[in-house]
Amino acid sequence: MRLYFLAALPLILPIFSSLAHPLEDVQLREFLEREDSSVKPLMHLARREAAGIRTRHLRPMAEDEAKQRVKRDSITPPDIGQIADFNGSDPQPVRGPLGAPFLAGSNHAIDKQNVDNVAPPNTDAGVVPNLKWSMSLSHTRLLKGGWVREQTITDLPPSKDVAAAEIRMAPNAYRELHWHRIAEWGYILGGTGRLSIIDDEGRNYISDIKGPTEGHDPDIYYFPPGAPHSIQALDEGLEILLIFSDGNFDAAGTTFMLSDWLTHTPLEILAQNFDVNVSTFANIPTKDPYMLPSTKPPPGLGQASEQAIQSPDGQTPLPYVFSLDKQEPVKASGGWVKVQDSITNFPGCVLSTLIASALVYVEPNGLREMHWHASDEWLYILSGHGRATAFAGGSTARTFDFQTGDTGVFPVGYGHYMKNLSPTEPLIFLEVFKAPRFADFSATQWLALTPVQVVVDLLNVSTEVVESFKKQKQHIIA
Ligand SMILES: *[C@@H]1O[C@H](CO)[C@@H](O)[C@H](O)[C@H]1NC(C)=O
Ligand SMILES: *[C@@H]1O[C@H](CO)[C@@H](O)[C@H](O)[C@H]1NC(C)=O
Ligand SMILES: *[C@@H]1O[C@H](CO)[C@@H](O)[C@H](O)[C@H]1NC(C)=O
Repeated sequence: MRLYFLAALPLILPIFSSLAHPLEDVQLREFLEREDSSVKPLMHLARREAAGIRTRHLRPMAEDEAKQRVKRDSITPPDIGQIADFNGSDPQPVRGPLGAPFLAGSNHAIDKQNVDNVAPPNTDAGVVPNLKWSMSLSHTRLLKGGWVREQTITDLPPSKDVAAAEIRMAPNAYRELHWHRIAEWGYILGGTGRLSIIDDEGRNYISDIKGPTEGHDPDIYYFPPGAPHSIQALDEGLEILLIFSDGNFDAAGTTFMLSDWLTHTPLEILAQNFDVNVSTFANIPTKDPYMLPSTKPPPGLGQASEQAIQSPDGQTPLPYVFSLDKQEPVKASGGWVKVQDSITNFPGCVLSTLIASALVYVEPNGLREMHWHASDEWLYILSGHGRATAFAGGSTARTFDFQTGDTGVFPVGYGHYMKNLSPTEPLIFLEVFKAPRFADFSATQWLALTPVQVVVDLLNVSTEVVESFKKQKQHIIA
């Protein structure tokens, strides 16, 4: 009886969707009346649980059971919280004795990238909001001469302090002249370009920027709020990770395009303001182009000075571009860190008072140590495969998996680590903060610098164990 009923489903469904209530259909009512009471749940098709029937597919179950039992034991005991290993098969919501395999479908490609969503460690608990966003899930705006895709507060609501965009510019293309209400920080992901900016004293600055090359770290730059700027790709093209000091980056009043402004100013005013004829601005673009191709290639890399305009007020006293390649890393047993901020390590550059950052290199199997911050950490995976647990306080925690191009956020105070899951590849990522200075608190250092008996009594471990804890930050542990 049930099989007959399931087979009839595809025929019934279209009728369903066109009626206010299924019982209004005479044929359907007669069909239901011919069946016994076990068919009643049909009326609750939309509520699968209440229906108590398998509504999503007609596939027989019996033969799959044995196969699914094989998939059960993804964790070889003891379960010490390691990432579940499904040995290349589709991940299943199963961990040791807990869970049960999917009966219906799932998006297995996404599951494979997020095994800790599907079969989390049993240390995860409670409700922690999603803290991850993949740039691959962002809408890409295709433009003449490139594209842009963003992660803003509507994509990742817990990231209130920081929003980001990846922007790609074809050879010689421009990002339109503009300024922001907030600070902009850029990490050159690839290619070469040239930027220019002026400060509020009429001093100007022009510089080339370049992405990473074999064995060399890229340039970064910082534009303070309000400072108007332009960016042009050179002949290789250019790709940049842009960071903004406000999660709600798409809100009105955040970004201001020059051509957009001129279009929305009376021509008469433009003529008087720029001391030109009224007809001069008759053909400016009516819709801001955001990005545009150049009509004449700029001088090549290293020749920025050929384009420099002599300002009567001189050049800005400090550069806005900083070469990460020239910065010495802080070495750790499992990798290295380069910190950039306005206090310590943005040396000789315009002060990045609103954005602090750290470029983190974690060797294969290495661990960015357990720590937390006094502001939200926003992160971006430059390459590799990471795993992190966000401890949100109040007995709640959630583990996330990260791949290249993923962004994430650890809200202020959340304890976390970042483990490199690859035995062969490094994990390279950026930690970014809306703060004048990079600051973190190390769990190990804290316990090592606290009276020993306090820790012994709390954690029920021996004095020897507590005395073995490292008294200095480990940053990254091999
Ligand atoms: C994992 O998969 C490989 C290739 O399919 C297979 O040879 C191997 O036996 C599997 N290992 C386990 C533990 O199932
Ligand atoms: C402005 O317009 C006047 C009168 O039409 C004309 O004589 C003059 O050459 C124009 N100036 C420019 C810079 O186009
Ligand atoms: C501390 O650990 C020991 C085992 O090493 C256990 O027997 C004891 O009950 C624990 N004490 C507390 C207070 O949990």
